[in-house]
Order: sequence, then structure tokens, then C-alpha cells
Amino acid sequence: MTTVTSPITSPIDLFSDHTLQNTEAVFAELRETAPVVHLPANDAWAITRYEDVREALGDPATFSSKQVAFNPQMNQILSGTSLAADPPQHGDLRAVLTDNLSPRAMRKMKGEIYAKADALVRELAGRGSFEGMTDMAVAFPVQIVLDLIGVQGELRAKILPWGEAAFNLLGPLNERAQASFPIAGELFKWTHEEMKGEDLAEGSIGRNIWEAAERGEISHESFGYIVHQILAAGMDTTITTIGNLLVQLGNHPEQYAQLRENPSLAAAALAEVLRTKTPAPVFGRVTTREVEVAGQTIPAGAQIALLYGSGNMDPRKFENPEIFDITRNPVDHLGFGYGIHACAGQGLAKLEINGLLEALIRHVESFRIGEVTQRLNNFTRPLATIEVLDIVTAEVPATA
Ligand code: HEM
Repeated sequence: MTTVTSPITSPIDLFSDHTLQNTEAVFAELRETAPVVHLPANDAWAITRYEDVREALGDPATFSSKQVAFNPQMNQILSGTSLAADPPQHGDLRAVLTDNLSPRAMRKMKGEIYAKADALVRELAGRGSFEGMTDMAVAFPVQIVLDLIGVQGELRAKILPWGEAAFNLLGPLNERAQASFPIAGELFKWTHEEMKGEDLAEGSIGRNIWEAAERGEISHESFGYIVHQILAAGMDTTITTIGNLLVQLGNHPEQYAQLRENPSLAAAALAEVLRTKTPAPVFGRVTTREVEVAGQTIPAGAQIALLYGSGNMDPRKFENPEIFDITRNPVDHLGFGYGIHACAGQGLAKLEINGLLEALIRHVESFRIGEVTQRLNNFTRPLATIEVLDIVTAEVPATA
């Protein structure tokens, strides 16, 4: 006989302005309320604690990605992508993408990405102060990803609004998502209908993949999806992380000094930024059967909200989770997800961010963070502006 437990509910809306502005406090409230909380505002069941989130991610047969977004239109649009696919289709779709983002492909790009990072940081440091989002967190990944795909001309200006809109649309159809439909539609139309090989710079990865499609090695549809995923998934997440990195290091000068003394802590510092300020803190799933999570029965066909950002701050997993500590090295944080859907672009993201971090260590002895403002997005937690002030420049030997 099944015992039906009545769910613990909360009036919290995961996508309201209040939640987006106070994510850490709202998640803490949910996490301490219960491991599973029913949210009528989102018609969803939130899984709030680290071990339960990770267990769900390890069971894609029960927690399907067919409802990774919180609205049916977007789930339909995403149905040809690895993000929203289940095995066995997921493996095939992911392979097309990861072939082009493999460690070997990344190794080839490293020299160029690090040189661009060095030039940018040296120039910004020489100014004495700069605007952290526009001048660094946005400028750098936009340049790298557009050059990688080979996007040229006036289309380059569209990339930011396109990337931002794609993430707004993963939420429910609130005002932010409604306003984003036409903008994200332009991106989809470009990648799936309008983009041609000659639009893309010669020698770019985008042009190479196009030529592979022309030779019949992959379908033209796959080509569209690869470019779409790199532009949509890779932009706002990386931008958000670079902004958070600046703020965390600027606000913890003793840890920045420690990092300069021991640059081998760079990877651990990035992991700690992703843990403490998770850039995309909620992803959706749908249950394929009735399932019990931490003693709570969840029906089949239920919309699930996996709170990666809450798991990353769970004191049951991370001691004193609110303390930013670059020596913690939380290798099993959930910032890139976990399991078969773990971020397929993390090699590129790490290359971009580590390139910037190494350049920062090389050229900047110390800096201070002034005023910081937030930009609201349904799925990412970006800052809008960051004042980077009082830069003291330095020259130290290269570590790369
Ligand atoms: C710091 C930057 C980034 C963060 C924090 C991040 C975060 C994530 C997370 C949490 C997931 C898992 C989604 C899920 O569980 O359903 C994911 C998946 C994915 N990411 Fe990233 N991402 C970043 C950068 C990138 C970049 C640069 C690219 C592309 C070049 C990319 C492409 C993808 C793709 C294609 C998937 C789907 C993988 C699959 O379903 O198999 N991401 N990312």
C-alpha cells in the first residue's frame, strides 16, 4: 500500500523579481523548509538539497529533460537539442556538439584566447579603473565566441540580446519571457534558415562545420543547432561568471593576494565562484513515473525544479557555505550541472575565464569594487554594472 504524504508547499515564485534579486535568501528558506517543496506559483516541485539534486541528475530515466524549460513552447523549440533530449537521442545530439568543443579543439585555441585575454586586461589595467561588465565580462566572451563561429559585420551586435533572450525564455511565460520571444526568434531564424557558409569567416570553426554539412558529413539542421547552442547557451552564463569572479576577488583582497602568490589556485577559485554565485541556478525536468525523493512522493508527469544554486549552498554538503574560500576547491559543485547533461561547453568557458584570470594576476596587483547593479533574467543571475576601481598595476612572470 502506498502512503500518500501531503506535500509541503510554499507561495514562492522561482521567477519573480523578488526571487531573482534575493536568490540566496529565497533558496535558503526553501532548503530549510524541506528537501522537496511544492510551488503552486510555478506548478512545480522544487528539489532543494545537494544530495537529492545530484541523485535526480544521475537518473535521467526518471527525471527527463523534456521539460528543461518552464513553458511548453520553449520545450517544443528545444526538442532538437541535447539540452532537452533524453537517451538514446541525447548521446547523438551531444556528440555532434562536443566533437567541436573537445579538449583537443580547446588546446588548439588556448594560445589565441590567452593572448586576447592578456591584451584586454593589460589595456583595462592601464586605465586605472573600468566598467567590469561592459569592458570585460561582456566584451571578452562576445569577441571569443563570435570569432570562433566566424560571425561578421552587423550581426555581431545582435549576439548579446539574442543570448539574453534565450535564457529568459527558459522560465515561465512571464513578462520577461514574452518580451524575449521575438528576439530569440531572430536567433533561431538566423541559425536555422538564413545563415550561410559565406556569412562566416574563413578558417573559423563555424565555417568548418558548415563545410562538413556541405560535404554531407552532418546535416544542415545539426549545423544550425550547433551554432544556436554555442550562441545561446554559452553567452549569458559565461558573462555572468566573469562578472562574479571580478566581484568576489575584488571584495576579498586577501584571497586575491593569495591567488597572485599561488596562481595554481586559479581553477579552485573559479569553482568557488561558480559554487557561491551559481550563474544558472535552476533547471527543469519532468518525472516519467511516480517517484519518492527524500520521503516525499512526487507524481508522474510533474514539473521539477532542480535548484543547483541551493545545492551549492547546502551546509549538509559544504561547511560554512556562505564563506568564499578559494582554497576550498569544490570540484563537485553543481554550477555546470552533473551527469549526462553536465555543461558541454565548460572546456571553452574555463579556457576563457582562466585566460582572463591569469592575465589579471599578471597585470593587476590589487583593485577594489565600487557600485554594483543587477540585470534581471529568468534563468541567469547577471550583474548589469560593476565599478572596478583603484587598480594598482603589476608585472609578474607569465604562468601559462
Ligand atoms: C561559466 C559558463 C557556463 C555555465 C555556468 C554553464 C552551465 C551549464 C549547466 C548548469 C548545464 C546543465 C543543464 C541541465 O542540467 O539541464 C549546461 C549545459 C550545457 N551547456 Fe553550459 N554553461 C556555461 C558555458 C557554456 C558554453 C560556453 C557553452 C557552449 C560553447 C555551453 C553549452 C552547453 C550545452 C550545449 C549544454 C547542454 C548539454 C547537454 O544537455 O548534454 N555552456 N551548462
